[in-house]
Amino acid sequence: MRYITTPIYYVNDVPHLGHAYTTIIADFLARLYRLRGHKTLLVTGTDEHGQKIEQAASARNFTPKEYADKISKEFKNLWDKLDINYDIYARTTDERHIKTVQAMFLKMWQKGDIYKGEYEGYYCVSCETFFTKTQLKENECCADCGKKTSIVKEESYFFKLSKYQDKILKWYEEKEPILPKNKTNELINFVKEGLKDLSITRTSFDWGIKIPKELKDEKHIIYVWLDALFTYVSVLDYLEKGQNYDFWPAHLHLVGKDILKFHAIFWPAFLMSVDMPLPRYIGAHGWWTREGEKMSKSKGNVIKPMDIVNAYGLDSFRYFLLREVPFGNDGDFSEAIFINRNNAELCNELGNLLNRIIGMSAKYSNNMLESKDIKQHFEKELKQSKDFIDNALKFCESLQLNRYLEELFKALAVANLSISKYEPWNLVKNGDLDKAKALISLCANILAKVALLLSPVMPSSMQKLSKALNYELNTQNYKKLIEEDELLNFNLSPCENLFNKIEKPLLEPVNLEVKKEEKKIKIDEFSKIEIKIATVLECENIEGSEKLLKFKLDLGDGDIRQILSGIAKFYKANELVGKQVCVLSNLKKAKIFGHESDGMILSAKSGDKLVLLSPNDLVKNGSLVG
Ligand code: MSP
Repeated sequence: MRYITTPIYYVNDVPHLGHAYTTIIADFLARLYRLRGHKTLLVTGTDEHGQKIEQAASARNFTPKEYADKISKEFKNLWDKLDINYDIYARTTDERHIKTVQAMFLKMWQKGDIYKGEYEGYYCVSCETFFTKTQLKENECCADCGKKTSIVKEESYFFKLSKYQDKILKWYEEKEPILPKNKTNELINFVKEGLKDLSITRTSFDWGIKIPKELKDEKHIIYVWLDALFTYVSVLDYLEKGQNYDFWPAHLHLVGKDILKFHAIFWPAFLMSVDMPLPRYIGAHGWWTREGEKMSKSKGNVIKPMDIVNAYGLDSFRYFLLREVPFGNDGDFSEAIFINRNNAELCNELGNLLNRIIGMSAKYSNNMLESKDIKQHFEKELKQSKDFIDNALKFCESLQLNRYLEELFKALAVANLSISKYEPWNLVKNGDLDKAKALISLCANILAKVALLLSPVMPSSMQKLSKALNYELNTQNYKKLIEEDELLNFNLSPCENLFNKIEKPLLEPVNLEVKKEEKKIKIDEFSKIEIKIATVLECENIEGSEKLLKFKLDLGDGDIRQILSGIAKFYKANELVGKQVCVLSNLKKAKIFGHESDGMILSAKSGDKLVLLSPNDLVKNGSLVG
């Protein structure tokens, strides 16, 4: 049994490339498992409670439920358009979910894992996460997303997360549940630093699930992460031991790296508290950027999945997402690379191979291909392609999906290369028709196997291909072709091109262009900016901050200032004394980390580093830059 989940997506905004990515991976795996004959369940859905949704709805003049209905529908529509074959679509506003969450909360309470207290600290609404002051970035900003947090002081129920610290560590060690494995160390360090008990109810707003009535404390609603995580269980009708009950424990929770902590620390602790078995794997993927930049609404560069699909077709899109980035790493959506993969891999190596096989079988064997002579002539090629396919399947188990596809394309290369090497047209010319036919048949068999394994990635084009070769993409053929290494005979028919060559980029870079225009300023706006050359008189580290250096600077004409700059990771304080730097000198004063800062020292971003800007020659302090 294989139960796979996507994250339960927030309905604060419409779905984007990141959501599509996780869901397409999940759909690929579920389709592959079904093909291999596993009983499989794929669950996705929407996370509809919490302050973030309440705020998003009210900003648009909707009630939270109206807004959730609207966005949840958009997610569902997108999944239909992306050919996501999910089994259940869960919503956290569903009645059965609400009941399950309350029942689980009660269980945790009865177990003695929940106690009442008062929470005082910081809260990031965007991440729906609590922080202590020391965990925050400068200016009380969220350690994860960088947005401003708010101070929360209210009565709250707490979950004894600390009690589960050692058990969680043991789970990591014994089961190695985190994929890719190299993400485990970060978690171990985090847990070892000490887990604090978790505030799991709020009272200052009410868009959420009320705590169980048995606690007689109506004003508390349940923390949205506890609520959302239990979707994975409520959707199975777990409490009633419904028909999907047996799917627990999940085989794989797929998540983005930003929400790994919730799934790999909070979730197992909650499950242990209610005496439920833990999921087998948690797979965390990286983030997508667009042409090297983080996607965000304010930059106007968010990719809408359907824009790509409408321009280039669904299967190319699904293929690109899985092929381009090693699972776990961040990846960049570059249109040029997308086009290159479509043309070189999908059109040439895959689509064209089918065309060649169809063409040659029509010419030399009346559309009928028999497998009987393949082994005699092409044992080596058969073995090579089998090895690549076996490798592919191994990579898939550890979610190395790009390598899965890479190996499958290596198997296709065996077919393509053997055509150029043995030249069937010359074999025929030289009177060796049987060998020519065996060669075409070898290629058709390799293609049939690969297409079977590509069908979970590109369902509709592989369906077309299977029609052309006249075989079924089903479990029976999976067993025959992949597990038992049988060879098939084919009766071919013509087929339209599987993929089309893309001649030029089709995506409108409108948003980026608009944004670039918006970023442009008029000369009179620039003249407001005052950048001056200054010499560093003193420089020291700031206690408690890894990032900040405190400078005393001479800006000429007796203008001596204190400025803080976040470059401590890149420069030693004492190296900088005597150096000249550029200072934005008419910036409003600010307090950073309790110290006054009067201006900004300019530096250039180079990858993850910051490099100070200095004049090329010594100039007078106070000289204007411009
Ligand atoms: N509601 C929670 C999940 C609860 S699961 C019990 C949530 N929702 S979300 O809608 O904000 O995020 C869903 C997923 O989108 C996360 O896995 C996140 O990593 C992913 N992504 C958001 N932006 C992304 C990219 N730019 N690239 C790839 N994935 C990204 O968190």
